[in-house]
Amino acid sequence: MKILVTGGAGFIGSNFVRMVLSEHKDIHVVNIDKLTYAGNLENLQGFLEHPNHRFVRGDICDGSLIARLIDEHKFDAIVNFAAESHVDRSLVDADVFIETNVKGTLTLLKAALDKKVPRFIQVSTDEVYGSLGPQGLFTELSPIQPNSPYSASKASSDHLVRAFGHSFGLNTNITRCSNNYGEYQFPEKMIPLMIHNALNDKPLPVYGDGLYVRDWLYVYDHCTAIWKVLTAGRPGEVYNIGGNNEKTNLEVVGLILDRLKKPKTLIRHVTDRPGHDRRYAIDSGKTMRELGWKPSVTFEQGILKTIDWYLANAAWLNHVVSGQYQSYYQSMYANR
Ligand code: NAD
Ligand code: DAU
Repeated sequence: MKILVTGGAGFIGSNFVRMVLSEHKDIHVVNIDKLTYAGNLENLQGFLEHPNHRFVRGDICDGSLIARLIDEHKFDAIVNFAAESHVDRSLVDADVFIETNVKGTLTLLKAALDKKVPRFIQVSTDEVYGSLGPQGLFTELSPIQPNSPYSASKASSDHLVRAFGHSFGLNTNITRCSNNYGEYQFPEKMIPLMIHNALNDKPLPVYGDGLYVRDWLYVYDHCTAIWKVLTAGRPGEVYNIGGNNEKTNLEVVGLILDRLKKPKTLIRHVTDRPGHDRRYAIDSGKTMRELGWKPSVTFEQGILKTIDWYLANAAWLNHVVSGQYQSYYQSMYANR
C-alpha cells in the first residue's frame, strides 16, 4: 500500500509515520509537510531515511504539487493531518487557519477526486462538537457547534470532506479525537508547555480556574485508531476516538509537578482563554465495536512515559524552544 501522509513532520503525523513504518510491512509513505513553526524533521529521527519513506517539503494548498505526487506514486490513500492546530493562535490570527485547514483540505479533496485516489482520511477533532456541560459524551451524531476559529476551520473542512463523499462518491472517513499527548508534542500545547516550565522552575500558567476538562488520548493510541479506520473504516463514516481519561487541567498539572518533584507553588492562575470550552469527553464506542480498537495505556501510564520521554530528550526540547518560541511565549504569556 502507498499512502500520502500530510503534516507528517508535526506531532501526531510524525508519530503516525513512525508507527506505520515500524509495525506494518510493505507500506510506502510519502510525507508532505510545509515545515511551519510546528513542523520539525527532528520529529522523524531514525525514520527520515527509511527506505519506505519519502519526505517532500510542500504546501497542501499547492494543487499542482499534490497532483504530481499522485501521478508519480498512485496512492491507495491520503491521510490528512496537515493543519494549523493551536486554538490560542487562532484567536490571534485566524487567516492561516482558513488557508491551510479549509483551502488546503479542499485542494487535497479535488486532487483525490480528479486522480481517483481510492481512500481519503480526514484527521479531525472533537472540538467541532463544541463544549459539554458536566454530563454526557460526544458521539458521532452530536451537533457540530465549533466555538473557536480553529474548530470552525476544522468543522468547515469536515463538511467539505462529507460533501465530496456525498456528491461525488469519494471514499472518505473523518476521525474526531480528543486531546492528544505524548512524544514530540510542541510546547505550545498544555502538557509539554507545563513540563518544560516545571523543568525550568518557571511558573505554570493555568487558564482561569483550571477546572476545564479534557479527555486525554495517548498519541500512539490515536495512531493505531487511524490505522484501523484507514484499513477497515466503512465509506463515508465518522469515527470518534477518545482516551476515556477525563481530567481537569489542575489534575494534569499536579501529576506533572509530582513526577518532576516540583512544588505546587509554581502554579499561576492567569487570564482565561476567550470562549474557552469547558469540557470535552468522547464516546469511542463505535470505533471500538466496529474496528476492534482500544487504547493501550491509561492516562497515568501514558503521562509517565511522556514525562520520561521529555526528560530523556532534553536536546530536542531545548532546540524547539529556542528562537521563535521565545517571542511566541512572550506575546502570549508576558502580560497575562
Ligand atoms: P501540529 O501543529 O503538531 O502539526 C501540524 C503539521 O502540519 C506541521 O508539521 C506543519 O508543518 C504541517 N502543516 C501546516 N500547514 C501546512 C500546509 N499548508 N501544508 C503542509 N503542511 C502543513 O498538529 P498535530 O497536533 O500533530 O495535529 C495533527 C492533526 O490532528 C491536525 O489536523 C489537528 O487538527 C488534529 N488534531 C490534533 C489534536 C491534538 O491534540 N494535537 C487533537 C485532535 C485533532
Ligand atoms: O480536543 C482536541 C484538540 O485538543 C485539538 O483539536 C487541538 O489541535 C489541540 O490543540 C487541543 O486543543 P486544546 O485547546 O484543548 O489544547 P491545549 O493544549 O491548548 O489546552 C488544553 C487545556 O489546557 C485547555 O483547557 C486550555 C488549558 N491551557 C492551555 C495552555 C496552552 C492552560 O491552562 N494553560 C496553557 O498555557
